Amino acid sequence: VARHCHGASERLGKRAMSRHIFVLTGAGVSAESGLGTFRDKAGEGIWAKFDPMKLATPQAFARDPQTVLAFYDARRRNLLAARPNPAHVALARLERELAAKGDRLTLVTQNIDDLHERAGSKEVVHMHGELLKARCQSCEAAHAWLNDLTVGDACPRCDRVGALRPDIVWFGEFPHHLHEIDRALRDADLFVAIGTSGAVYPAAGFVAEARAFGVPTCEINLEAADNALLFDDALYGPATEIVPAWVEETLRT
Ligand code: NAD
Ligand code: APR
Repeated sequence: VARHCHGASERLGKRAMSRHIFVLTGAGVSAESGLGTFRDKAGEGIWAKFDPMKLATPQAFARDPQTVLAFYDARRRNLLAARPNPAHVALARLERELAAKGDRLTLVTQNIDDLHERAGSKEVVHMHGELLKARCQSCEAAHAWLNDLTVGDACPRCDRVGALRPDIVWFGEFPHHLHEIDRALRDADLFVAIGTSGAVYPAAGFVAEARAFGVPTCEINLEAADNALLFDDALYGPATEIVPAWVEETLRT
């Protein structure tokens, strides 16, 4: 029995203290909503079809913004047609029911989709930014990226023309919110990674940080990730089956 996944660990034994669960999600949690994953064992995935170095780096955007924007416009259209799946809904329920008991969920996602929010999650930490947002490189303000927004437009806040870019963290750039993430990792009683291949840092290193802080760790995935050996326990299967069952069990302990 994956005892750590169900929080049956010494740290969760301290019922007196409030319980704090840290969940990291990756592309796998949105796979069954029809959004592609980036890489998988079969060598499929977005980065098998497209070269990330031509589409997901600041240099690529500076060199050929229209091609980069077309790539993300297509992903935005897929996203607007997609729906949250039972895994997103279960994580929103976990946040609500933990809060109702004075406990806490920290939900950090590598995903740039808004399916966690559309499923009802209130607090979502987007460490790689958001597909539905544009950011002004002059005043740093973030704006809803509606289809009619283009990089040549003036920033709605500072009026600077031509300073808008997708509010997405590209390869070679530093992810957002790492200080807040580090603090939450130290404080957590349980670390759970859902649907991430453990291929890209710093997210792939969170499990090692959690272990260093003595936090029990659990992997929920379709198949073992690159960093699977670092997890105390694992639950394997499709997120839409595994995550609702894990949330049910976790709320019962
Ligand atoms: P990195 O160097 O840590 O990771 C590079 C990853 O990109 C590798 O793990 C590899 O899986 C993949 N990659 C590189 N070249 C590839 C190729 N030719 N074909 C297939 N896969 C290839 O990345 P980084 O520079 O540390 O990135 C910084 C942060 O930006 C990371 O957290 C990353 O996840 C994030 N990011 C976000 C997006 C996005 O679309 N949201 C895209 C790229 C990077
Ligand atoms: N249920 C659960 N897990 C799944 C499912 C599913 N139905 N389908 C796929 N997975 C798992 C795969 O086993 C894999 O471990 O999802 C993971 C997808 O891995 P990636 O495609 O590498 O996605 P992710 O780990 O989020 O990528 C990290 O890389 O390109 C950058 O910034 C981008 O945020 C992304 C980062």
